[in-house]
Amino acid sequence: MNLPTEVRYRPYADWTQKERAAIRAKVAESPWHTHYHIEPKTGLLNDPNGFSYFNGKFHLFYQNWPFGAAHGLKQWVHTQSSDLVHFEETGVTLEPDNKNDSHGAYSGSAYPIGDKLFLFYTGNVRDENWVRDPLQIGAWMDKNGKIEKFTDVLIQQPNDVTEHFRDPQIFKYQDQFYAIVGAQSLNEQGFIKLYKALDNDVYNWQEVGNLDFGGTGSEYMIECPNLVFVDNRPVLLYSPQGLSKTELSYDNIYPNTYKICQSFDTNQPALIGASKISNLDYGFEAYATQGFNTPDGRALIVSWIGLPDIDYPTDQYDYQGAMSLVKELTIKNGKLYQYPVPAITSLRSSQDRLTNKLETSNTYELEVNFEAKEKTELLLFADEKGQGLKLTVDNTTGTVTLDRSKAGIQYATDFGTSRECRIEQAQTANIFVDNSIVEIFINKGEKVFTSRVFPEKGQSGIKILSGQPTGSYFELKA
Ligand code: FRU
Repeated sequence: MNLPTEVRYRPYADWTQKERAAIRAKVAESPWHTHYHIEPKTGLLNDPNGFSYFNGKFHLFYQNWPFGAAHGLKQWVHTQSSDLVHFEETGVTLEPDNKNDSHGAYSGSAYPIGDKLFLFYTGNVRDENWVRDPLQIGAWMDKNGKIEKFTDVLIQQPNDVTEHFRDPQIFKYQDQFYAIVGAQSLNEQGFIKLYKALDNDVYNWQEVGNLDFGGTGSEYMIECPNLVFVDNRPVLLYSPQGLSKTELSYDNIYPNTYKICQSFDTNQPALIGASKISNLDYGFEAYATQGFNTPDGRALIVSWIGLPDIDYPTDQYDYQGAMSLVKELTIKNGKLYQYPVPAITSLRSSQDRLTNKLETSNTYELEVNFEAKEKTELLLFADEKGQGLKLTVDNTTGTVTLDRSKAGIQYATDFGTSRECRIEQAQTANIFVDNSIVEIFINKGEKVFTSRVFPEKGQSGIKILSGQPTGSYFELKA
């Protein structure tokens, strides 16, 4: 939603209780609230931030402007979870309240150090002429959620990057703390800078160099770079804005991509043997995915189900955006798989066979088995006229297509109304529907489609249009 700059950058303290209550009341009116996905209490949710394990719990913050469905003065909002499925908002926030983050506490990461959680983020600072000074800054969060910001800037803008320099991700590699930061070069190409914490002191960062990951620079900016290790192999996740479509085919305004690499050379610095760039997700919206390695070595990721610069049907209710399910990364036969954590099955309340249904709760999981050499067409969010979200799994041509053109309220149609990917054989799909979200995992995560759908009244049916898929329907509890 387009709102004037004065509104979007109005100090938090100036918003009255009455105004805040009016926004909450509007949010409450929406028919599209999710039941098992994180949504903002109010306003806009974008990137996942500070995803980590600390003090016996998982922590996940989200980027938020709390006063409407627009990108304004951003804060981090804290949630925590024991099982990576049920998250609770704790009331802890990292607010833009200081000279080093005066125009927004932008995205970043977290790492437990001693008995505190270190938050590493970008302070978006602008001067009176609206000239930006992007600062990489830090804060501690203690076990009680008390946040204490560092006074000194950790990384200043280097002289070979423009004002687009943000989203530090801290990680440990061979007992050494590193951080990567998304950047734009002076000739407006996207790249990634690597830093190292001298003596593992997070107050003392030194530039190692520009990370060679086999990128072409066809993008103009790389947002939210993340490096995680899957079976010791570095996997780079990133959001390249303006990436050339000859380099990678994609339909969303910006893609969210990855490369699987063979090794990490911290001296060059380089990711050696990087695969070609691939789409992380084939749906209508998944962006700024953040990952981290858990103490027991798993690589977990979570995505923003939303995209920059897009208006959503929920904007009229003063909120926008949601978090994806938490997904675990694995590599099988050289391919990257993403699949919800095992605890996701704890949401299942009752089970039924996969059959046509005139109406559902729109809060369910489908586990579908496809026939080889067959084309299956499945309609979700279906209405009595036989329209809805159409998933076509065509094992004769090796394509999976998601067609949203007849599903619910239409929006962002300039970017097309269907999405497609190729796959040799689709044997299964696990489809998670949550009122206005659908996450589809083909072959347990070989290919993923994450999307919003905003159904109108009566759009909740399931219809098998062609093929003979078998499988189960699980009602999911909130
Ligand atoms: C990506 C992004 C980040 C930035 C944040 C601001 O969606 O633009 O690069 O830190 O959002 O909210």
